[in-house]
Amino acid sequence: MTALAIDTLGGDVDLSGVLEVEAESFNNPWTREMYAWELRNPAVCRIYVARLPECRVAGFCATWLVVDEIHINNVAVRPAYRGNGIGTALLQHALAQSSRLGARRARLEVRASNAGALRLYERLGFSLAGVRRNYYSHPVEDALLLARDDDD
Ligand SMILES: CC(C)(COP(=O)(O)OP(=O)(O)OC[C@H]1O[C@@H](n2cnc3c(N)ncnc32)[C@H](O)[C@@H]1OP(=O)(O)O)[C@@H](O)C(=O)NCCC(=O)NCCS
Repeated sequence: MTALAIDTLGGDVDLSGVLEVEAESFNNPWTREMYAWELRNPAVCRIYVARLPECRVAGFCATWLVVDEIHINNVAVRPAYRGNGIGTALLQHALAQSSRLGARRARLEVRASNAGALRLYERLGFSLAGVRRNYYSHPVEDALLLARDDDD
């Protein structure tokens, strides 16, 4: 997708776009208040958005960077744009940016049944590091904890 650009979240209009993608992607989406709380801590919270000429926020990736570790909190792409490499581009961008800022490790949780996301993470070098039983609600499900270490 040549016209794709990855940008840093740039204000309320972008946040509204992120909330739309959340609503289209998750059973229990994060709310504006949850994101507002996150964004009060810009030293830790970084949110990247995927832009297309026809769509200001086609997808997003929300992360925390704490010392040498990036945590991928959320990644999602609007259903109409999935399967075009946008999720991969968002994650690669977030990982590269955090690496430049000193991150040496990446962590995330994913629903055990989310085969598409699992394939994507494995392709990017993540591997299984643990299981958190009944971590998710609506529906209740285990989380797989995935890890990627630069030293591996
Ligand atoms: C997971 C997600 C972010 C991937 O985004 P994407 O832009 O579709 O990702 P990519 O195009 O880079 O491809 C990722 C994988 O999805 C597959 N895919 C292909 N067509 C697809 C389609 N129409 N819909 C979904 N996935 C598709 C790709 O083949 C690829 O897997 P592969 O390794 O077999 O090639 C997206 O499916 C999504 O928003 N899902 C709902 C939210 C979610 O589950 N997020 C992860 C939470 S941990």
